[in-house]
Amino acid sequence: MIEKIKELEKEISDILSQVTEIDQVEKIRIDYLGKKGKITSMLKSLGSLELENRKKAGALLNKIKNTYMEKINNLKENLISSMQNEMMKKEWVDVSLSSNTEFIGHIHPITTMRYEVEDFFKSMGFMIADGPWLEDDYHNFEALNIPLDHPARDMQDTFWTEDGRLLRTHTSCVQIRVMGKYSPPIRAIAPGRVFRYESTDASHENTFNQVEGLMIDKGISVSHLIYTMKTLLSHVFKKDIKVRLRPGYFPFVEPGFELDFQCLFCGGEGCSVCKHTGWVELMPCGLVHPNVLKHGNIDPDEYSGFAFGLGLDRLVMMRYGINDIRYFNNPDIRFLRQF
Ligand code: FA5
Repeated sequence: MIEKIKELEKEISDILSQVTEIDQVEKIRIDYLGKKGKITSMLKSLGSLELENRKKAGALLNKIKNTYMEKINNLKENLISSMQNEMMKKEWVDVSLSSNTEFIGHIHPITTMRYEVEDFFKSMGFMIADGPWLEDDYHNFEALNIPLDHPARDMQDTFWTEDGRLLRTHTSCVQIRVMGKYSPPIRAIAPGRVFRYESTDASHENTFNQVEGLMIDKGISVSHLIYTMKTLLSHVFKKDIKVRLRPGYFPFVEPGFELDFQCLFCGGEGCSVCKHTGWVELMPCGLVHPNVLKHGNIDPDEYSGFAFGLGLDRLVMMRYGINDIRYFNNPDIRFLRQF
């Protein structure tokens, strides 16, 4: 029996000397010292021995059991601490370094303004209408009282497609689509992208954004238009804004106007932003031309309406003091991160 015990001790000692992983140590503990382990089983079998042999073998086995329990625990601790040292060497972090946070995108300033304008008009009972970017001549020109030979077509240089369609030059075409779909009373705005075949400069883009407005009912007059726009501007700029109307020509409105607002930079005194006039041009507008109402199957003797075409990009420029419209379509993230 004593021989067997010594062999067992040699066996466990040899195995332990080759161990490198913490899982292996645990397996050895189970194999030798666990409930069904070899040393435990041997201890259980001592009962069959004679007293003297049982005492000797028992003492030896208990000594081995305690010694290897301690060795196994020490080995585990050593392996854990060398593993930690290794990790600290490989995976150390410099907590003083600035974090490497991912940049999270956000809404474009024009979209923010668009949402604000939409919310404002929704609160006044307007619906949000939409129309295709790729339009036909009828909706973009013809139905808006701009026939083929009309000189006003030159006011908006157009991108034509080979099949005779065009990229809409303004959102006014949505007026016709709305009138075709709904009967008065109509209150609608149509925000969206428009395209013009023209050279760009600080205040002109070939792709920009407008918000069309259309209100048709019995007895609609210019005063409804002025009230609506004044209220919109106060909402956008968070203060009372003075507006004025100047005569302006568009074939689809009669009378037509240019709506200006008092310069926010100089309060109307005159500065470089307002070209020393004290006023900034905001948008063309007017009362919907009877011919346009007829194209929308609306009787001009019964109904009247106002329409406007707000340049969204220029409104955003005014709000944030941006001096070049071309920043909006430029992918330079440094510009966009400012908003
Ligand atoms: C029109 O587009 C008319 N459809 C507006 C209208 C609607 C008039 C309803 C009457 C009734 P205009 O071409 O002026 O109008 O453009 C309207 C606004 O779009 C301008 O006041 C300006 O703010 C903006 N805009 C025009 N051209 C450009 C451009 N190239 N780049 C940036 N914004 C522009």
